[in-house]
Amino acid sequence: MKRDVRILLVGEAQVGKTSLIMALVGEEFPEEVPPRAEEITIPADVTPEKVPTHIVDYSESEQTEDELQEEITKANVVCVVYDVTVEATIEKIRTKWIPLVNGGVEKASRIPIILVGNKSDLQSGSSMEIILPIMNQFSEIETCVECSAKNLKNISELFYYAQKAVLHPTAPLYDPEEKQLRPTCARALTRIFNISDQDNNQILSDDELNYFQKSCFGNPLAPQALEDVKTVVWKNTTDGVQDNGLTLNGFLFLNTLFIQRGRHETTWTILRRFGYADELELTDDYLYPLFRVPQGCSTELNHFGYQFLQRMFEKHDKDGDGALSPVELQSFFNVFPYVPWGPELYNTCSLCLDPPGWYPIWMSITAWSTWVTWATPSSLSTTLRHRPSQAQKESPGELSFYAINTVQVSGQEKYLILYEIDVDTEFMKASDAACDVACLMYNVNDPKSFNYCACIYKQHYMDGQIPCIFVASKSDLPEVTQQHGLSPAEFCYKHRLPPPFYFTCNSPGLPSTTIYTKLATAAAFPHLNDTELGAASFWLRVALGASITAVVGFALYKALAKSK
Ligand code: GTP
Ligand code: MG
Repeated sequence: MKRDVRILLVGEAQVGKTSLIMALVGEEFPEEVPPRAEEITIPADVTPEKVPTHIVDYSESEQTEDELQEEITKANVVCVVYDVTVEATIEKIRTKWIPLVNGGVEKASRIPIILVGNKSDLQSGSSMEIILPIMNQFSEIETCVECSAKNLKNISELFYYAQKAVLHPTAPLYDPEEKQLRPTCARALTRIFNISDQDNNQILSDDELNYFQKSCFGNPLAPQALEDVKTVVWKNTTDGVQDNGLTLNGFLFLNTLFIQRGRHETTWTILRRFGYADELELTDDYLYPLFRVPQGCSTELNHFGYQFLQRMFEKHDKDGDGALSPVELQSFFNVFPYVPWGPELYNTCSLCLDPPGWYPIWMSITAWSTWVTWATPSSLSTTLRHRPSQAQKESPGELSFYAINTVQVSGQEKYLILYEIDVDTEFMKASDAACDVACLMYNVNDPKSFNYCACIYKQHYMDGQIPCIFVASKSDLPEVTQQHGLSPAEFCYKHRLPPPFYFTCNSPGLPSTTIYTKLATAAAFPHLNDTELGAASFWLRVALGASITAVVGFALYKALAKSK
C-alpha cells in the first residue's frame, strides 16, 4: 500500500477548485480565495485511511502548461472539477482534461481520476446524466461525486474517495468494460477460497466463513449478517450457495458486488491479508517470512507445525488412503505460487509412494523448506532410502540432491535429511557450510581422497560448533595409505573427533544403518561426543520425552569423486 497520497485538483477556471480545498481545511465556505491554494498536507491520524495526504491546487492564471504537466506526473490521483451549472466545463473533461492527464499512457499505468461536480447548491437536479457516458468511456475514472464548497456538502467525502482510489485502486481488480473481475483478481480470490475451504469440499460452511471473516476483519459475522450474505448470493446466482454454504462462484460474486458498490476496500483487505500487493502478486514478506535462527542454533517443528502439516495432508488426501496421489498433490499445491517438487522427489525417499510410510516422509519434506541442506546421490544417501521405490524403478534417471528417512535417536524418531555436496562445490559464504552435522566421506581405496576431507574440515568446521563425522567408505576394498600427513585415525584423534566410521554398501544383504543413527545423534546432541553419549543416554531419554519428533538435517561430503 502507498505510504502517502498526493491529490491534484484540475479543471476549468472558476469552477471552485481553490474554494473546495479551503472549505475542507477551514470547514467553512471561504468568501474570498486566492487563485491558487498553497499545497496542504493532512497528517495521517486525521485521514480515514491513516495515510498522510497532500492536496495540490492548480490555477491556469498562476501556472504554465509545463508546471501543470509536472504536477500531473507527481500526483497519485487527479480530481477533475467541473461546475454543475456550466455545461462547457463538463465538455472539457472529455476534450481537454482526461487527455492531458492520461493521454498516450498505457491502460495499466493510468492515473485514477475522480470527477467532481461543484456548486451543487446552485442546481436542483443532477449532472449524472451527462457524466455517466464519460465515466463509461474512460475506465480510469474511479467515481464521480457532486458537492458544494458553499454549503459544505460532500467535501470530506470527495477527498476520501480520492484517497481510496490510490490506496484501494479498482483497476487491478475489476474490468469496468466487461463488468467482471479481472482474471488475476479472480485467480487470487480462488486461491483464498481454497485456503479457507478447510475441509476441501468446495463449499465455505458457516464455520469456515466465520474463521475467514475473523482472520480478515478481526471479528466474526453476526449470525444474521451471515444469513443475509448467503441470501444475496442465492438470489443473484444459480450456483452461489450449496448445502447452506458459499461456493467458489458465490464467493467471487460477493467480491464483484463489493467492488461494483464501491466497497473495493473490502476486497483489498481480503487480498492483502492473504499476501497480495498492489499488482496482485504475493509479496516476498508473505512468501519468505523472516526466520531468525540465532548462530549455532538449529530448528525443528513444534507440535503446532506438526499438526498443521497433518491437517493439510488429511485435507488433500480425499480418498483417505494415507497417500497423496498425483491429482491430490496437484490440489495441495494449487495454493502455492508454483509446484516445488519435481519427479526427483521419488528418488529422495523410497517410501514416498508407500502408505503408511509416506506420512512421516511427507512431514519431513514439507518441513524441509526451513532447512539449510544440500546434496547429490551417493552410496550413503542411496542406502538411507533402503530400497528403490516403484517410481524410482520407473524413472531411475531423475536424481535427487536429497535423501530423507526416519532414524531412531535415543528411542525417539528423528527425520534425517541428507544433502550431498559434490567435491566441485565452492562455498561462497560461511552459511553455505551450515548444517546440523557434517559428514566428511573419503574412499579408503583412494590415497588422495582423505586430503580433500581434511581441507574441508579445516576450512569450514575446525573452529566452529558443527559436529563432524568422518566416514571411511568402500571399506570392502583394501585400505591404502592416505597421502595426507596424518592417517585418518590420527587426524581424528588430534582434532578430538570420533574415529573414522567404516562403511560399505557393497555387502551381502542390506548395508548397516548404524551410520545414520550416529549422524542423527551427533546432530541432535552437538555438545556431546561419542564417548559421553553412552553415559548420558539415560538423561537424554528423560530430556527427550517432552519434545516431539523433529527433523535433523546434515550435509554429506563426497570425496569419492575426487579419485582422479
Ligand atoms: P481558478 O483558480 O481561476 O482556476 O478558479 P477556481 O476553480 O479555483 O475557483 P474558485 O475557488 O476561485 O471559485 C470561483 C468562484 O466560484 C468564486 O466566486 C467562489 O466563491 C465560487 N464558488 C466556489 N465554490 C462554490 C460553490 O460550491 N457554490 C457556489 N455557489 N459558488 C462557489
Ligand atoms: Mg483557484
